[in-house]
Amino acid sequence: MADTIRREYPNTPLRLGLAIPGILHVEKSPSQIDFAKALDSFKVNSIGPLLLMKHLSQFIPAKSAQAFTADAASSHDSLPLPSHAIYAMMAARVGSISDNASGGWYSYRASKAAVFQLAKSFDLYLQTKSAQRAIAVALHPGTVQTDFTKDFWGGRDMLEPIDAAGKLLEVLARLPSDAKGGRGRCWDWKGEEVVP
Ligand SMILES: NC(=O)c1ccc[n+]([C@@H]2O[C@H](COP(=O)([O-])OP(=O)(O)OC[C@H]3O[C@@H](n4cnc5c(N)ncnc54)[C@H](OP(=O)(O)O)[C@@H]3O)[C@@H](O)[C@H]2O)c1
Repeated sequence: MADTIRREYPNTPLRLGLAIPGILHVEKSPSQIDFAKALDSFKVNSIGPLLLMKHLSQFIPAKSAQAFTADAASSHDSLPLPSHAIYAMMAARVGSISDNASGGWYSYRASKAAVFQLAKSFDLYLQTKSAQRAIAVALHPGTVQTDFTKDFWGGRDMLEPIDAAGKLLEVLARLPSDAKGGRGRCWDWKGEEVVP
């Protein structure tokens, strides 16, 4: 993928990167944990974002790079992006240890907890490499009606994918790149922090 990007878009810095992969194998009690499924969860949910970070970090602008031109929304549909690059990884609220009140979903919770850590560590790397030209964060999209939640449709209020995506993009576009602006942390679709 990185080779293709380099070939198709030479000398083009990454402006908005979204690492989305995620799967859920439900475990309600420890006895339901299955090695192959747990390994699958960690491969997709933790090592997926880890390797995307490895191969995409080369495209993120360095601190000497020119700032992007901040887009004033030129049409009704366009999203005004900030002048710095954004790299976001999809975590999940259930990956928060502080927020865990009900247990279960052991592999999913643990593999998503890793994403909070990856976003923080990657952001620290970017603070050195890119300074205010780039930030990394983790995201929680809300409970969204996708294939992922198919087994739970009907039981609770869910966001439409288009609404969750729109809200997350608004949150990302508003985050400043200074040290106190929320970089390295996890943000939900309402713009509220999900603490690790
Ligand atoms: N839906 C929710 O309520 C909810 C809540 C919290 C967090 N999340 C997180 O949000 C993200 C998107 O989920 P979604 O609701 O949009 O579910 P989804 O429609 O099932 O999307 C899952 C994503 O993971 C990718 N994926 C799955 N297995 C993969 C594999 N083996 N290798 C590479 N990519 C793989 C899929 O890629 P393809 O499209 O190419 O198959 C797709 O982009 C996930 O990280 C999920 O954990 C969702």
